[in-house]
Parts: sequence; structure tokens; C-alpha cells
Amino acid sequence: MPGTSTHRVRTVLGRSAGWLVVGLSTLYAVSAVGMAVTELLALLGAGPDAKPRVVPPLFVLHALTGAVALVTGAVQLQLGRPSSSGHARAHRTLGRCYLAAAWTTSVAGAATAVVFDVGVAGQAGFAVWSASWFPTTTIALRHIRARRVRAHRDWMIRSFALAFVFVFVTFDPVRQALESAGLPRTVVYPVALAGCAIVDLAAVEVWLRRDRPGAPPSRGRPYATPRMAARPCEPDGRCGSGRSAPAPT
Ligand code: HEM
Repeated sequence: MPGTSTHRVRTVLGRSAGWLVVGLSTLYAVSAVGMAVTELLALLGAGPDAKPRVVPPLFVLHALTGAVALVTGAVQLQLGRPSSSGHARAHRTLGRCYLAAAWTTSVAGAATAVVFDVGVAGQAGFAVWSASWFPTTTIALRHIRARRVRAHRDWMIRSFALAFVFVFVTFDPVRQALESAGLPRTVVYPVALAGCAIVDLAAVEVWLRRDRPGAPPSRGRPYATPRMAARPCEPDGRCGSGRSAPAPT
């Protein structure tokens, strides 16, 4: 059937894109850890001079926790809904690591940005990034605490998209072109941050809309752990007994 083969192609493309995101996230996380370790060694006087940082300890902290957020978030989303109790346990552990890392990075990153010399617009860009990532992650947590699984998944995807802004900004060819053209950091940073965040978040919103119930099927359906599935369902979409997966919220 043509519909089935289209679905298969979409599934394969979706999985490949997921692994690409895991690969890129890991690559940029390793590079962030490298910079953090170089800075730490320089701070302790145990290594050569490192690139000057405005608040070195906060830089080290946010780069390390940012790396954890990138890897745990990407792996978590790629593994998808837990299909066994072992996977459900791993999902919760990875999820807790992601939450702690995302909250710490957004707070430490914002504190660093206050004294980062990229002008008011650049600092505002960092502030908006941080002020979106923290609550987005918290909303995702509140949804799963209330067993609104579908909403939890959607908000976690948005939260990870905000973590992924780091990869976009670092890689961004537009930013590199602006830098090569000799434009000042006070222009390059706000333009790059805004551009990358808008493209990243818009792509995620389009994808989430296509993946809504009623849209063509995809592999990203809400999951239910055995504990969730055993609980009674509410009309508002909370989990219910006799159903294998919660109603979408
Ligand atoms: C996944 C999340 C993040 C990771 C992995 C990460 C990692 C890094 C790395 C490796 C650098 C050094 C870049 C270079 O010198 O080429 C950096 C710089 C910086 N980051 Fe982040 N970051 C993340 C999120 C954030 C957030 C959310 C903010 C603030 C809202 C932020 C604020 C900053 C600032 C202000 C600098 C410049 C610090 C300096 O050079 O003194 N970062 N980040």
C-alpha cells in the first residue's frame, strides 16, 4: 500500500534524523567538556593558559552540565517510550540527570551572560534563552507528575530543542560568515542566537503538529510504563486501566 510505504520511509528518516541528533549532540558535548577541562586545569595552575572567560568557575560548571543535558536529552528522545520496566527505570534516571543538568546550565549560563561583553542585545538574547529553557523543562516535569504523558513528551522535545540551540549557534554558518565579515560581537551574538533559536523552535513546532493525533501516524506515540497503565484513566487524558497508553493531552 502506498500509505504504508510512505509511513515506513518516514519512520526510517525519523530514526536516522534522531541518531544524527544524538551524534551531533555527543560531538558538541565532548568539545564542551574539553573546553571546560582546559579551563579547569588552567584555573588550578595545572595546565597551559586557556581562552579568557568572564566567570571561569561558572563557565566550567555550565559547559559540563550543558554537555550532560545534550547527551542525556538526545538519547532519551531517541530511545522513545519505555517498552519494559528496565527501560522505564533507565528513562527516569536519564530524565532526572537531564532535568538537573538543564536547570543548572540555564542558571549558570544566564549568570555568566550578565557580564559577557556582547552588548545589551546579546545579553538579552542569552537571558531569553535561559528564561525559556528553565520553565519549559519544568513544565515537562509537571506534566509527567500529573501523568499527562503526551504533553510531557511534547514539552521535553521543546526543552531539548532549547538545549540544541547551543549546537546550532556553534555550528551556524551565518554566524561564522558575520564574524569573518568583521562584524562586532555585539551584532553577531544577538543575530545568531535569535536566528538559531527561531529556526530550531519553529522546526520542532511544525514537527509536533504533524505528529498530533489525527495527523499521519509516526513512531512518537505517547508511552505508558506498567505503573501508568495500571492507573485509572480520566476524561482529561490521564492514564486509565484497560488502556495500554494514555489518551493524548
Ligand atoms: C547545551 C547547553 C550549553 C552548552 C553545552 C554550553 C557550552 C558552552 C561552551 C563550550 C562555551 C565556550 C564557547 C567558545 O568559547 O567557543 C560556552 C560559552 C558561553 N555560554 Fe554556554 N553552553 C550551553 C548553554 C548556555 C546557556 C543556556 C547560556 C545562557 C543563557 C550560556 C551562556 C554562555 C556564555 C555567556 C558563554 C561565554 C562565556 C565566556 O566565554 O566567558 N550557555 N558555552
